[in-house]
Amino acid sequence: MNQHARLDEQPIPFIDVAAQRRRLGRAIDDAIARVLAHCQFIHGPEVRALETELAAFCGARHAVACSSGTDALLLVLMAWEIGPGEAVICPAFTFCATAEVVALCGATPVMADVEAETFNLDPASLERAVATAKKLGLKPRAVIPVDLFGLPADHDAIAAIAAAHDLLVLDDAAQSFGATYRGRKLGALAPATATSFFPAKPLGCYGDGGAILTDDDDLAARLRSLRVHGEGTDKYDAARIGMTARLDTIQAAVLLEKLKIFSDEIVARNAIAQRYASGLAGVAILPRVDNESTSVWAQYTIRLVPGRRDTLAAALKEKGIPTAIYYAKPLHRQAAYSSFPVVDGGLPVSERLAEEVISLPMHAYIEEPVQDRVVAAVRQALAGSL
Ligand SMILES: Cc1ncc(COP(=O)(O)O)c(C=O)c1O
Repeated sequence: MNQHARLDEQPIPFIDVAAQRRRLGRAIDDAIARVLAHCQFIHGPEVRALETELAAFCGARHAVACSSGTDALLLVLMAWEIGPGEAVICPAFTFCATAEVVALCGATPVMADVEAETFNLDPASLERAVATAKKLGLKPRAVIPVDLFGLPADHDAIAAIAAAHDLLVLDDAAQSFGATYRGRKLGALAPATATSFFPAKPLGCYGDGGAILTDDDDLAARLRSLRVHGEGTDKYDAARIGMTARLDTIQAAVLLEKLKIFSDEIVARNAIAQRYASGLAGVAILPRVDNESTSVWAQYTIRLVPGRRDTLAAALKEKGIPTAIYYAKPLHRQAAYSSFPVVDGGLPVSERLAEEVISLPMHAYIEEPVQDRVVAAVRQALAGSL
């Protein structure tokens, strides 16, 4: 075997955090060293600086940094005092954290279906889920649309339904910070938007982290209190029941450096997605982005006829190419969530997607020869399968 052939079969990562570290060079090490020098590990100056940068990046009045994407969602529900007897509508095809926070507040997640082409909340199903909740004697209070795999949900349609039913909208943008919908960045669309800085996310830190974006001054003030045990005038004045949900200063320092190259990385992710799309046309159902939105491609997820994806995953694995399945089980099929109500008419699209989806390697540093290798391997494995 010659050297070239061996390189062609070397395993590649699904997400390459190390490649980004190489690009950033010493910038992050220096940023962390500055925190080690000033020793303000909790709510040091980098946290405030990051909040200012995040808010400016997406055009929101406030960014409130916190300990994770899950806590970002939970803090908002706590601030809105959502609780027992109330329903929050969630898509069934999402990561469990979307509904977990609703249950943690003592409210009831009501599962709605998604659209097959975008993987995102179907506005028609949202409308039906509101009726389902009322029929069950619950008061519909909020909806949590998810911008899955980096692509914005249909926010205008969701906002119109929310307005008609007096629902609060908490956007779960854990996978999609940086994406745009009709010319606006996520974070400037819904009354509150939560995001995650988990390392594998498009904008990730080196541990857990998250943020809430909002234009609402009063909500931002309550969130700042809730993330520090519900503090009032000072930390020994407990104005409300809160949490320990701060973002560490070191993580803020990491994120400040990463934010400087984030727009470039979004461009690179889009170039890779476009190359995948042209290389894979005709062999699988490809993700659709209409011309009113941009995605940050947290995942590049294709759909196959049921039964084909195990064969594809095995063929790619043989060639050193990892794949992942997000999500093999929709929420209502998960043990922890199976007792919560589902929308009248059921969740046929979520069920189908769970059988069809498979995600290919995606990050901003996949070089063209590697992109071509992925495309060629998928084409070969799927020849004649559509
Ligand atoms: C859709 C969605 N919501 C919420 C979260 C929770 O974010 P975190 O892991 O930072 O708590 C995630 C993380 O994977 C997610 O994908």
